[in-house]
Amino acid sequence: MFNDIVKINNFRNFAGKEVTIGGWVYHSRPGGKVIFLVVRDGSGLCQCIIEKTSVSEDLFRQLAHLSMESSLTLTGTVRADERSVGGYELAVTDAKILCPTENYPITPKQHGIDFLLKNRHLHLRSQRQWCIGKVRHTVVNAIRQFFNDNGFTLVDSPILTGIVGEEAGSLFNVDYFGMPAFLSQTGQLHLECAAMSLGRVYCFGPTFRAEKSKTRRHLTEFWMVEPEIAFIDLPGLLEVAENFVSFVVQKVLNDNESELKTLGANIDALKKIVPPFYRLTYTQAHEILTSQKTQDFMAAQLVDFKNTKQEIENKITALETEMKGQIKQWRQDKIAAELIDLRSDLVEIETKIENNPKHAQLASKFKWGEDLGGSDETIISLMHDKPIFVTHYPRQAKAFYMKQDEDPRVVQNFDMLAPAGFGEIIGGSMREDSFDKLLEKINEHKYKLENYQWYLDLRRYGSVPHGGFGLGVERTLAWITGEKHIRQCIAFPRMMDKILI
Ligand code: 4AD
Ligand code: MG
Repeated sequence: MFNDIVKINNFRNFAGKEVTIGGWVYHSRPGGKVIFLVVRDGSGLCQCIIEKTSVSEDLFRQLAHLSMESSLTLTGTVRADERSVGGYELAVTDAKILCPTENYPITPKQHGIDFLLKNRHLHLRSQRQWCIGKVRHTVVNAIRQFFNDNGFTLVDSPILTGIVGEEAGSLFNVDYFGMPAFLSQTGQLHLECAAMSLGRVYCFGPTFRAEKSKTRRHLTEFWMVEPEIAFIDLPGLLEVAENFVSFVVQKVLNDNESELKTLGANIDALKKIVPPFYRLTYTQAHEILTSQKTQDFMAAQLVDFKNTKQEIENKITALETEMKGQIKQWRQDKIAAELIDLRSDLVEIETKIENNPKHAQLASKFKWGEDLGGSDETIISLMHDKPIFVTHYPRQAKAFYMKQDEDPRVVQNFDMLAPAGFGEIIGGSMREDSFDKLLEKINEHKYKLENYQWYLDLRRYGSVPHGGFGLGVERTLAWITGEKHIRQCIAFPRMMDKILI
Protein backbone atom coordinates (compact mmCIF):
# COMPACT_ATOMS: atom_id res chain seq x y z
CA MET A 1 0.00 0.00 0.00
CA PHE A 2 2.84 2.38 0.79
CA ASN A 3 5.23 1.08 -1.87
CA ASP A 4 5.11 4.35 -3.79
CA ILE A 5 5.88 6.59 -0.84
CA VAL A 6 8.71 8.97 -1.69
CA LYS A 7 11.03 10.29 1.02
CA ILE A 8 11.43 14.05 1.34
CA ASN A 9 15.22 13.86 1.29
CA ASN A 10 14.88 12.30 -2.16
CA PHE A 11 12.89 15.18 -3.69
CA ARG A 12 15.78 16.36 -5.86
CA ASN A 13 15.11 13.29 -8.05
CA PHE A 14 11.43 14.17 -8.42
CA ALA A 15 11.34 17.87 -9.32
CA GLY A 16 8.30 18.55 -11.50
CA LYS A 17 6.89 15.07 -10.84
CA GLU A 18 3.92 13.88 -8.83
CA VAL A 19 4.73 12.01 -5.61
CA THR A 20 3.05 10.80 -2.44
CA ILE A 21 4.67 11.34 0.94
CA GLY A 22 3.70 9.99 4.36
CA GLY A 23 4.37 11.98 7.49
CA TRP A 24 3.29 14.06 10.43
CA VAL A 25 2.25 17.69 10.67
CA TYR A 26 5.11 19.69 12.12
CA HIS A 27 3.62 23.12 11.75
CA SER A 28 0.39 24.44 10.26
CA ARG A 29 -0.57 27.86 8.95
CA PRO A 30 -4.15 27.68 7.63
CA GLY A 31 -5.61 30.53 5.60
CA GLY A 32 -8.90 31.09 3.78
CA LYS A 33 -7.52 30.31 0.32
CA VAL A 34 -4.34 28.41 1.04
CA ILE A 35 -2.98 26.21 3.82
CA PHE A 36 0.75 25.89 4.51
CA LEU A 37 1.61 22.62 6.22
CA VAL A 38 5.17 21.79 7.17
CA VAL A 39 5.35 18.01 7.23
CA ARG A 40 8.13 15.78 8.57
CA ASP A 41 8.54 12.23 7.30
CA GLY A 42 11.61 10.96 9.16
CA SER A 43 13.92 11.91 6.32
CA GLY A 44 13.36 15.66 6.40
CA LEU A 45 10.90 18.55 6.46
CA CYS A 46 8.84 19.85 3.55
CA GLN A 47 6.45 22.74 3.11
CA CYS A 48 3.20 21.50 1.55
CA ILE A 49 0.93 24.03 -0.10
CA ILE A 50 -2.75 23.29 -0.33
CA GLU A 51 -4.72 25.70 -2.47
CA LYS A 52 -8.47 25.77 -2.01
CA THR A 53 -8.98 25.30 -5.74
CA SER A 54 -6.74 22.19 -5.90
CA VAL A 55 -8.63 19.87 -3.53
CA SER A 56 -12.24 19.15 -2.63
CA GLU A 57 -13.97 21.58 -0.30
CA ASP A 58 -14.39 18.91 2.35
CA LEU A 59 -10.71 17.92 2.30
CA PHE A 60 -9.63 21.57 2.42
CA ARG A 61 -11.72 22.08 5.57
CA GLN A 62 -10.32 18.96 7.24
CA LEU A 63 -6.72 19.90 6.40
CA ALA A 64 -7.25 23.41 7.72
CA HIS A 65 -8.13 21.94 11.11
CA LEU A 66 -5.22 19.50 11.35
CA SER A 67 -3.00 20.18 14.29
CA MET A 68 0.57 19.27 15.19
CA GLU A 69 1.57 15.59 14.88
CA SER A 70 -1.51 14.52 12.94
CA SER A 71 -0.47 11.78 10.52
CA LEU A 72 -1.36 11.78 6.83
CA THR A 73 -0.28 11.04 3.30
CA LEU A 74 -0.11 13.84 0.76
CA THR A 75 0.04 13.66 -3.00
CA GLY A 76 1.26 16.52 -5.13
CA THR A 77 3.89 17.95 -7.45
CA VAL A 78 7.44 18.58 -6.24
CA ARG A 79 8.57 22.15 -6.95
CA ALA A 80 12.04 23.52 -6.44
CA ASP A 81 11.85 26.55 -4.18
CA GLU A 82 14.95 28.08 -2.63
CA ARG A 83 13.04 29.71 0.20
CA SER A 84 11.44 26.46 1.33
CA VAL A 85 12.94 24.20 4.04
CA GLY A 86 15.00 21.61 2.20
CA GLY A 87 14.82 23.58 -1.08
CA TYR A 88 11.58 21.96 -2.39
CA GLU A 89 7.89 22.28 -1.73
CA LEU A 90 4.90 20.12 -2.51
CA ALA A 91 1.91 21.54 -4.43
CA VAL A 92 -0.77 19.26 -2.99
CA THR A 93 -3.56 17.74 -5.09
CA ASP A 94 -4.78 15.06 -2.68
CA ALA A 95 -4.36 13.89 0.92
CA LYS A 96 -5.45 11.12 3.26
CA ILE A 97 -5.66 11.87 6.93
CA LEU A 98 -4.65 8.79 8.94
CA CYS A 99 -4.86 10.00 12.53
CA PRO A 100 -5.95 13.55 13.30
CA THR A 101 -4.28 14.55 16.56
CA GLU A 102 -5.71 16.80 19.21
CA ASN A 103 -3.94 18.34 22.18
CA TYR A 104 -0.48 16.98 21.43
CA PRO A 105 1.17 17.31 24.84
CA ILE A 106 4.44 18.86 23.62
CA THR A 107 3.85 22.35 22.26
CA PRO A 108 6.29 25.14 21.41
CA LYS A 109 5.44 26.50 24.87
CA GLN A 110 7.71 26.17 27.89
CA HIS A 111 8.38 22.63 29.04
CA GLY A 112 10.86 21.76 31.76
CA ILE A 113 13.38 18.99 31.19
CA ASP A 114 11.52 16.64 33.58
CA PHE A 115 8.35 16.97 31.53
CA LEU A 116 10.25 16.30 28.31
CA LEU A 117 11.99 13.24 29.76
CA LYS A 118 8.66 11.85 31.00
CA ASN A 119 7.37 12.34 27.48
CA ARG A 120 10.48 10.98 25.82
CA HIS A 121 8.34 8.66 23.65
CA LEU A 122 6.95 11.80 22.00
CA HIS A 123 9.84 14.19 22.46
CA LEU A 124 11.96 11.95 20.19
CA ARG A 125 9.98 13.53 17.31
CA SER A 126 11.37 17.00 18.04
CA GLN A 127 13.74 18.60 15.56
CA ARG A 128 16.69 18.52 18.01
CA GLN A 129 16.20 14.87 18.88
CA TRP A 130 15.83 14.03 15.21
CA CYS A 131 19.16 15.75 14.42
CA ILE A 132 20.94 14.05 17.32
CA GLY A 133 19.58 10.68 16.18
CA LYS A 134 21.00 11.27 12.71
CA VAL A 135 24.42 12.32 14.01
CA ARG A 136 24.51 9.37 16.44
CA HIS A 137 23.90 7.03 13.52
CA THR A 138 26.88 8.53 11.67
CA VAL A 139 29.10 8.32 14.77
CA VAL A 140 28.25 4.64 15.31
CA ASN A 141 28.86 3.81 11.66
CA ALA A 142 32.14 5.73 11.59
CA ILE A 143 33.31 3.88 14.71
CA ARG A 144 32.67 0.51 13.07
CA GLN A 145 34.20 1.63 9.79
CA PHE A 146 37.40 2.88 11.39
CA PHE A 147 38.10 -0.38 13.20
CA ASN A 148 36.92 -2.63 10.37
CA ASP A 149 39.17 -0.78 7.92
CA ASN A 150 42.22 -0.88 10.19
CA GLY A 151 42.60 -4.60 10.72
CA PHE A 152 40.48 -5.01 13.87
CA THR A 153 38.14 -7.96 14.38
CA LEU A 154 34.83 -7.41 16.19
CA VAL A 155 34.41 -9.55 19.32
CA ASP A 156 31.23 -9.33 21.38
CA SER A 157 32.04 -9.30 25.08
CA PRO A 158 29.50 -10.60 27.62
CA ILE A 159 27.08 -8.30 29.41
CA LEU A 160 26.62 -10.64 32.38
CA THR A 161 29.96 -11.08 34.13
CA GLY A 162 31.36 -12.46 37.36
CA ILE A 163 34.26 -10.09 37.89
CA VAL A 164 34.83 -6.41 38.63
CA GLY A 165 36.08 -4.67 35.49
CA GLU A 166 36.60 -1.10 36.65
CA GLU A 167 35.62 -0.37 40.22
CA ALA A 168 33.55 -2.21 42.78
CA GLY A 169 31.65 0.94 43.76
CA SER A 170 29.55 1.21 40.62
CA LEU A 171 28.37 -2.36 39.98
CA PHE A 172 24.84 -3.40 39.15
CA ASN A 173 24.31 -6.70 40.94
CA VAL A 174 22.41 -9.51 39.29
CA ASP A 175 21.13 -12.64 40.96
CA TYR A 176 22.54 -15.21 38.56
CA PHE A 177 20.90 -18.49 39.64
CA GLY A 178 21.98 -17.80 43.19
CA MET A 179 25.52 -16.81 42.19
CA PRO A 180 26.70 -13.20 42.40
CA ALA A 181 27.09 -11.56 39.00
CA PHE A 182 27.13 -8.03 37.58
CA LEU A 183 26.20 -6.12 34.48
CA SER A 184 29.38 -5.41 32.56
CA GLN A 185 31.18 -2.11 33.27
CA THR A 186 33.61 -2.75 30.44
CA GLY A 187 34.35 -5.46 27.91
CA GLN A 188 38.07 -4.93 28.34
CA LEU A 189 39.13 -7.94 30.40
CA HIS A 190 37.41 -10.36 28.03
CA LEU A 191 38.74 -8.45 25.07
CA GLU A 192 42.30 -8.90 26.34
CA CYS A 193 41.76 -12.67 25.98
CA ALA A 194 40.51 -12.16 22.43
CA ALA A 195 43.48 -9.91 21.56
CA MET A 196 45.80 -12.82 22.42
CA SER A 197 43.94 -14.80 19.75
CA LEU A 198 43.16 -12.24 17.05
CA GLY A 199 45.77 -9.52 17.65
CA ARG A 200 43.64 -6.41 17.10
CA VAL A 201 40.07 -6.59 18.34
CA TYR A 202 37.22 -4.32 19.41
CA CYS A 203 33.91 -4.67 21.17
CA PHE A 204 31.03 -2.25 20.93
CA GLY A 205 27.98 -2.40 23.14
CA PRO A 206 26.11 -1.13 26.15
CA THR A 207 27.92 -0.85 29.48
CA PHE A 208 26.48 -0.32 32.92
CA ARG A 209 27.58 1.69 35.90
CA ALA A 210 25.55 2.27 39.02
CA GLU A 211 26.59 5.92 39.10
CA LYS A 212 24.90 7.67 41.97
CA SER A 213 25.83 11.08 40.60
CA LYS A 214 23.42 13.18 38.58
CA THR A 215 25.94 15.05 36.46
CA ARG A 216 25.67 16.05 32.81
CA ARG A 217 28.38 13.49 32.00
CA HIS A 218 26.96 10.36 33.61
CA LEU A 219 24.45 7.75 32.53
CA THR A 220 23.92 4.38 34.19
CA GLU A 221 23.71 2.68 30.78
CA PHE A 222 25.91 3.98 27.98
CA TRP A 223 27.52 2.70 24.80
CA MET A 224 31.24 2.19 24.69
CA VAL A 225 33.58 1.05 21.93
CA GLU A 226 36.76 -0.62 23.15
CA PRO A 227 39.69 -1.56 20.92
CA GLU A 228 42.41 -3.82 22.34
CA ILE A 229 45.77 -4.33 20.65
CA ALA A 230 48.55 -6.88 21.19
CA PHE A 231 52.11 -5.65 20.56
CA ILE A 232 51.74 -1.92 21.07
CA ASP A 233 53.16 0.74 23.37
CA LEU A 234 51.65 3.90 24.87
CA PRO A 235 52.73 6.31 22.07
CA GLY A 236 51.29 3.82 19.54
CA LEU A 237 47.99 3.71 21.41
CA LEU A 238 47.72 7.51 21.46
CA GLU A 239 48.21 7.57 17.71
CA VAL A 240 45.40 5.09 17.15
CA ALA A 241 43.15 7.12 19.47
CA GLU A 242 43.77 10.48 17.75
CA ASN A 243 43.39 9.04 14.26
CA PHE A 244 40.18 7.36 15.37
CA VAL A 245 38.57 10.42 16.96
CA SER A 246 39.47 12.73 14.10
CA PHE A 247 38.09 10.17 11.62
CA VAL A 248 34.75 10.11 13.46
CA VAL A 249 34.54 13.92 13.65
CA GLN A 250 35.42 14.40 9.97
CA LYS A 251 32.81 11.82 8.99
CA VAL A 252 30.12 13.70 10.90
CA LEU A 253 31.21 16.99 9.30
CA ASN A 254 30.93 15.33 5.94
CA ASP A 255 27.56 13.61 6.41
CA ASN A 256 25.66 15.82 8.84
CA GLU A 257 26.49 19.44 8.17
CA SER A 258 22.87 20.54 8.12
CA GLU A 259 22.05 18.70 11.36
CA LEU A 260 25.11 20.26 13.02
CA LYS A 261 23.92 23.70 11.90
CA THR A 262 20.42 23.11 13.25
CA LEU A 263 21.91 21.97 16.55
CA GLY A 264 24.12 25.06 16.73
CA ALA A 265 27.32 22.98 16.86
CA ASN A 266 30.64 24.77 16.45
CA ILE A 267 31.51 23.56 12.96
CA ASP A 268 34.70 25.64 12.63
CA ALA A 269 36.05 24.20 15.87
CA LEU A 270 35.25 20.66 14.68
CA LYS A 271 37.17 21.22 11.46
CA LYS A 272 40.31 21.68 13.58
CA ILE A 273 40.04 18.20 15.09
CA VAL A 274 42.95 16.64 13.19
CA PRO A 275 46.09 14.90 14.56
CA PRO A 276 48.28 15.54 16.37
CA PHE A 277 46.29 16.22 19.54
CA TYR A 278 47.93 17.81 22.60
CA ARG A 279 49.93 15.63 25.00
CA LEU A 280 50.39 16.39 28.68
CA THR A 281 51.54 14.16 31.51
CA TYR A 282 49.47 14.09 34.68
CA THR A 283 52.39 15.80 36.44
CA GLN A 284 52.32 18.63 33.89
CA ALA A 285 48.54 18.88 34.29
CA HIS A 286 49.09 19.13 38.04
CA GLU A 287 51.60 21.95 37.52
CA ILE A 288 49.19 23.83 35.24
CA LEU A 289 46.27 23.48 37.64
CA THR A 290 48.20 24.76 40.64
CA SER A 291 49.85 27.64 38.74
CA GLN A 292 49.05 31.35 38.76
CA LYS A 293 48.26 30.97 35.06
CA THR A 294 45.18 28.93 35.94
CA GLN A 295 44.01 31.47 38.51
CA ASP A 296 44.37 34.25 35.91
CA PHE A 297 42.57 32.13 33.34
CA MET A 298 39.67 31.51 35.71
CA ALA A 299 39.44 35.19 36.66
CA ALA A 300 39.29 36.20 32.97
CA GLN A 301 36.64 33.61 32.42
CA LEU A 302 34.54 34.97 35.25
CA VAL A 303 34.57 38.40 33.59
CA ASP A 304 33.42 36.81 30.30
CA PHE A 305 30.64 34.93 32.09
CA LYS A 306 29.38 38.10 33.74
CA ASN A 307 29.34 39.94 30.42
CA THR A 308 27.43 37.10 28.82
CA LYS A 309 24.94 37.15 31.67
CA GLN A 310 24.36 40.87 31.13
CA GLU A 311 23.81 40.33 27.40
CA ILE A 312 21.25 37.57 28.03
CA GLU A 313 19.40 39.72 30.55
CA ASN A 314 19.24 42.61 28.07
CA LYS A 315 17.80 40.33 25.38
CA ILE A 316 15.19 38.98 27.79
CA THR A 317 14.11 42.48 28.80
CA ALA A 318 13.78 43.55 25.14
CA LEU A 319 11.68 40.50 24.23
CA GLU A 320 9.47 40.85 27.30
CA THR A 321 8.80 44.47 26.34
CA GLU A 322 7.90 43.44 22.78
CA MET A 323 5.58 40.75 24.16
CA LYS A 324 3.53 43.40 26.02
CA GLY A 325 2.79 45.28 22.80
CA GLN A 326 0.27 44.46 20.05
CA ILE A 327 1.85 41.59 18.13
CA LYS A 328 0.66 38.72 15.96
CA GLN A 329 0.15 35.23 17.41
CA TRP A 330 3.04 33.70 15.43
CA ARG A 331 5.43 36.35 16.72
CA GLN A 332 4.22 35.75 20.27
CA ASP A 333 4.92 32.03 19.89
CA LYS A 334 8.36 32.74 18.49
CA ILE A 335 9.23 35.10 21.34
CA ALA A 336 7.90 32.60 23.89
CA ALA A 337 10.22 29.93 22.45
CA GLU A 338 13.20 32.32 22.41
CA LEU A 339 12.52 33.30 26.01
CA ILE A 340 12.59 29.64 27.08
CA ASP A 341 16.03 29.24 25.54
CA LEU A 342 17.32 32.50 26.96
CA ARG A 343 16.07 31.71 30.47
CA SER A 344 17.73 28.33 30.38
CA ASP A 345 20.96 29.99 29.14
CA LEU A 346 20.66 32.41 32.02
CA VAL A 347 20.35 29.64 34.61
CA GLU A 348 23.35 27.95 33.04
CA ILE A 349 25.56 31.03 33.08
CA GLU A 350 24.53 31.80 36.67
CA THR A 351 25.63 28.29 37.67
CA LYS A 352 28.95 28.86 35.92
CA ILE A 353 29.43 32.16 37.72
CA GLU A 354 28.69 30.46 41.02
CA ASN A 355 31.01 27.50 40.31
CA ASN A 356 33.95 29.42 38.85
CA PRO A 357 35.55 30.48 42.17
CA LYS A 358 34.98 27.00 43.67
CA HIS A 359 36.63 25.33 40.69
CA ALA A 360 39.54 27.79 40.80
CA GLN A 361 40.04 26.98 44.45
CA LEU A 362 39.82 23.22 43.91
CA ALA A 363 42.47 23.51 41.18
CA SER A 364 44.83 25.54 43.38
CA LYS A 365 44.61 22.88 46.11
CA PHE A 366 44.94 19.92 43.75
CA LYS A 367 47.37 17.41 45.28
CA TRP A 368 49.64 15.17 43.25
CA GLY A 369 48.29 11.65 43.69
CA GLU A 370 44.56 12.38 43.41
CA ASP A 371 42.57 11.55 40.28
CA LEU A 372 41.65 14.59 38.18
CA GLY A 373 38.19 15.81 39.17
CA GLY A 374 35.47 16.86 36.72
CA SER A 375 36.20 20.56 37.25
CA ASP A 376 39.98 20.03 36.84
CA GLU A 377 39.36 18.30 33.53
CA THR A 378 37.08 21.14 32.49
CA ILE A 379 39.78 23.73 33.18
CA ILE A 380 42.46 21.86 31.20
CA SER A 381 39.96 21.24 28.44
CA LEU A 382 38.93 24.91 28.28
CA MET A 383 42.56 25.94 27.73
CA HIS A 384 42.80 23.91 24.50
CA ASP A 385 41.20 23.95 21.05
CA LYS A 386 41.91 20.30 20.23
CA PRO A 387 41.60 17.16 22.35
CA ILE A 388 44.26 16.66 25.02
CA PHE A 389 45.86 13.42 26.12
CA VAL A 390 46.68 13.39 29.81
CA THR A 391 49.04 10.47 30.46
CA HIS A 392 50.88 8.76 33.35
CA TYR A 393 48.49 9.12 36.28
CA PRO A 394 49.49 8.10 39.81
CA ARG A 395 49.23 4.36 40.18
CA GLN A 396 47.17 4.56 43.38
CA ALA A 397 44.42 6.59 41.67
CA LYS A 398 43.80 4.17 38.79
CA ALA A 399 42.33 0.74 37.99
CA PHE A 400 44.19 -2.43 39.02
CA TYR A 401 45.00 -3.59 35.48
CA MET A 402 47.01 -0.56 34.33
CA LYS A 403 50.70 -1.13 33.55
CA GLN A 404 53.23 0.31 35.95
CA ASP A 405 55.66 2.74 34.31
CA GLU A 406 59.47 2.80 34.69
CA ASP A 407 58.67 5.53 37.19
CA PRO A 408 56.91 3.21 39.68
CA ARG A 409 54.66 5.97 41.04
CA VAL A 410 52.70 6.21 37.78
CA VAL A 411 50.96 3.97 35.25
CA GLN A 412 51.10 3.98 31.44
CA ASN A 413 47.59 5.24 30.88
CA PHE A 414 45.78 8.12 29.27
CA ASP A 415 42.52 10.01 29.28
CA MET A 416 41.51 11.95 26.22
CA LEU A 417 39.80 15.22 27.11
CA ALA A 418 37.62 16.83 24.48
CA PRO A 419 38.31 20.58 24.13
CA ALA A 420 36.25 23.67 24.97
CA GLY A 421 35.40 22.52 28.47
CA PHE A 422 33.80 19.24 27.54
CA GLY A 423 36.15 16.87 29.37
CA GLU A 424 36.92 13.13 29.24
CA ILE A 425 35.66 11.08 26.31
CA ILE A 426 38.25 8.27 26.36
CA GLY A 427 40.00 6.31 29.08
CA GLY A 428 42.72 3.84 28.15
CA SER A 429 46.01 2.26 29.14
CA MET A 430 48.71 -0.28 28.58
CA ARG A 431 47.79 -3.36 30.60
CA GLU A 432 49.97 -4.83 33.31
CA ASP A 433 51.64 -7.75 31.56
CA SER A 434 53.79 -8.84 34.51
CA PHE A 435 52.17 -11.71 36.43
CA ASP A 436 53.64 -10.66 39.78
CA LYS A 437 52.65 -7.02 39.56
CA LEU A 438 49.11 -7.86 38.47
CA LEU A 439 48.72 -10.35 41.31
CA GLU A 440 49.89 -7.71 43.77
CA LYS A 441 47.23 -5.29 42.51
CA ILE A 442 44.41 -7.84 42.61
CA ASN A 443 45.31 -8.63 46.22
CA GLU A 444 45.61 -4.96 47.11
CA HIS A 445 42.02 -4.41 45.90
CA LYS A 446 40.94 -7.54 47.80
CA TYR A 447 39.29 -8.97 44.68
CA LYS A 448 38.53 -12.70 44.89
CA LEU A 449 41.65 -14.30 43.47
CA GLU A 450 39.89 -17.40 42.16
CA ASN A 451 37.71 -15.20 39.91
CA TYR A 452 40.76 -13.66 38.28
CA GLN A 453 42.69 -16.86 37.49
CA TRP A 454 41.67 -16.73 33.84
CA TYR A 455 42.79 -13.12 33.61
CA LEU A 456 46.11 -14.05 35.24
CA ASP A 457 46.49 -16.92 32.74
CA LEU A 458 47.00 -14.30 30.02
CA ARG A 459 50.18 -13.35 31.92
CA ARG A 460 51.17 -17.01 32.48
CA TYR A 461 50.93 -18.12 28.86
CA GLY A 462 52.54 -15.95 26.22
CA SER A 463 52.12 -12.55 27.87
CA VAL A 464 52.85 -9.64 25.50
CA PRO A 465 52.73 -5.85 25.80
CA HIS A 466 49.17 -4.86 24.99
CA GLY A 467 46.75 -2.06 25.58
CA GLY A 468 43.56 -0.40 24.51
CA PHE A 469 40.97 2.20 25.36
CA GLY A 470 37.25 2.88 25.67
CA LEU A 471 35.34 5.74 24.06
CA GLY A 472 31.89 6.68 25.36
CA VAL A 473 29.46 7.26 22.50
CA GLU A 474 27.10 9.64 24.32
CA ARG A 475 29.90 11.86 25.62
CA THR A 476 31.47 12.00 22.17
CA LEU A 477 28.13 12.88 20.65
CA ALA A 478 27.44 15.58 23.23
CA TRP A 479 30.82 17.14 22.51
CA ILE A 480 30.39 17.04 18.71
CA THR A 481 26.82 18.34 18.70
CA GLY A 482 27.37 20.92 21.44
CA GLU A 483 24.60 19.30 23.51
CA LYS A 484 24.94 20.27 27.15
CA HIS A 485 23.77 17.04 28.80
CA ILE A 486 24.54 13.52 27.64
CA ARG A 487 21.01 12.36 28.48
CA GLN A 488 19.94 13.99 25.18
CA CYS A 489 22.41 11.83 23.26
CA ILE A 490 20.74 8.44 23.67
CA ALA A 491 17.13 7.75 22.71
CA PHE A 492 16.10 6.34 26.09
CA PRO A 493 18.50 7.61 28.76
CA ARG A 494 19.01 5.69 31.98
CA MET A 495 19.94 7.73 35.01
CA MET A 496 19.65 7.27 38.73
CA ASP A 497 16.02 8.36 38.79
CA LYS A 498 15.03 7.52 35.18
CA ILE A 499 14.07 4.04 34.03
CA LEU A 500 10.36 4.15 33.08
CA ILE A 501 10.51 4.95 29.38
O1 4AD B 1 37.51 5.57 31.63
P1 4AD B 1 36.62 4.37 31.61
O2 4AD B 1 36.02 3.96 32.91
O3 4AD B 1 37.52 3.21 30.99
C1 4AD B 1 37.18 1.89 30.89
O4 4AD B 1 36.11 1.42 31.13
C2 4AD B 1 38.26 1.04 30.30
N1 4AD B 1 38.06 -0.34 30.71
C3 4AD B 1 38.24 1.18 28.80
C4 4AD B 1 39.32 0.39 28.13
O5 4AD B 1 40.48 0.69 28.35
N2 4AD B 1 38.96 -0.59 27.35
O6 4AD B 1 35.45 4.60 30.57
C5 4AD B 1 35.73 4.86 29.23
C6 4AD B 1 34.82 5.94 28.67
C7 4AD B 1 34.92 7.29 29.37
O7 4AD B 1 36.01 8.04 28.90
C8 4AD B 1 33.60 7.92 29.01
O8 4AD B 1 33.61 8.42 27.68
C9 4AD B 1 32.67 6.72 29.05
O9 4AD B 1 33.46 5.57 28.85
N3 4AD B 1 31.97 6.64 30.34
C10 4AD B 1 30.71 7.05 30.55
N4 4AD B 1 29.81 7.61 29.73
C11 4AD B 1 28.60 7.90 30.23
N5 4AD B 1 28.22 7.66 31.50
C12 4AD B 1 29.11 7.10 32.37
N6 4AD B 1 28.71 6.82 33.61
C13 4AD B 1 30.41 6.76 31.90
N7 4AD B 1 31.50 6.19 32.46
C14 4AD B 1 32.43 6.12 31.50
MG1 MG C 1 37.87 7.23 32.88
